[in-house]
Amino acid sequence: MVKIAVFASGSGSNFQSIVESAEQKKIDASVDLLVCDKKDAYVLTRADKHCIPVFSFSAKDYSSKEMFEKEIVAELQRRDIELIVLAGYMRLVGPTLLREYEGRIINIHPSLLPAFPGLDAIGQAFTAQVKISGVTIHFVDEGMDTGPIIAQEPVRIEETDTKEDVQKKIQSVEHQLYPTTIQHVISQLQRSVN
Ligand code: GAR
Repeated sequence: MVKIAVFASGSGSNFQSIVESAEQKKIDASVDLLVCDKKDAYVLTRADKHCIPVFSFSAKDYSSKEMFEKEIVAELQRRDIELIVLAGYMRLVGPTLLREYEGRIINIHPSLLPAFPGLDAIGQAFTAQVKISGVTIHFVDEGMDTGPIIAQEPVRIEETDTKEDVQKKIQSVEHQLYPTTIQHVISQLQRSVN
């Protein structure tokens, strides 16, 4: 079983779907840590309900990204974490984390990358009036939503859809696609070890 850490900054609906998939043994993983950079994020309540250990921090309490990432790495190593899953972690991963977990950090983004990278991808797609957007899961590199793509799924945007409708459709795809893709990545990791 692969030990994973989920990084999140917000509501944590993806965190919840990953935790439930692990609890129901749909993925060969245990969620052993939540890393959260927002003291009042709802994801913290979800972690508490599922008795998942939390490392929470405020970037402003540190002099640099390197300083807080060093502490995160120490916490990950203490718990033997093998895979990092970003789920609404609204921060660029820096070299300190990337070096330690090269090829073992994945991210979910609410658009069909390379379209609409960065913040508010759903709002960007909505404003651009595209008919199809979607969800991308990719390996993380030093860029903003630029790493190699692992999985994508399209979501159709109807003329009558509000931004909230699009968000709901995208999140419901995310909650299915992320656990399935995590399992795919885990199988690859396990094959490369054996
Ligand atoms: C998700 O839609 C995820 O794709 C997005 O944040 C949301 C988090 O929702 N991530 C990004 O935009 C990353 N660039 P959640 O907190 O309910 O899981």
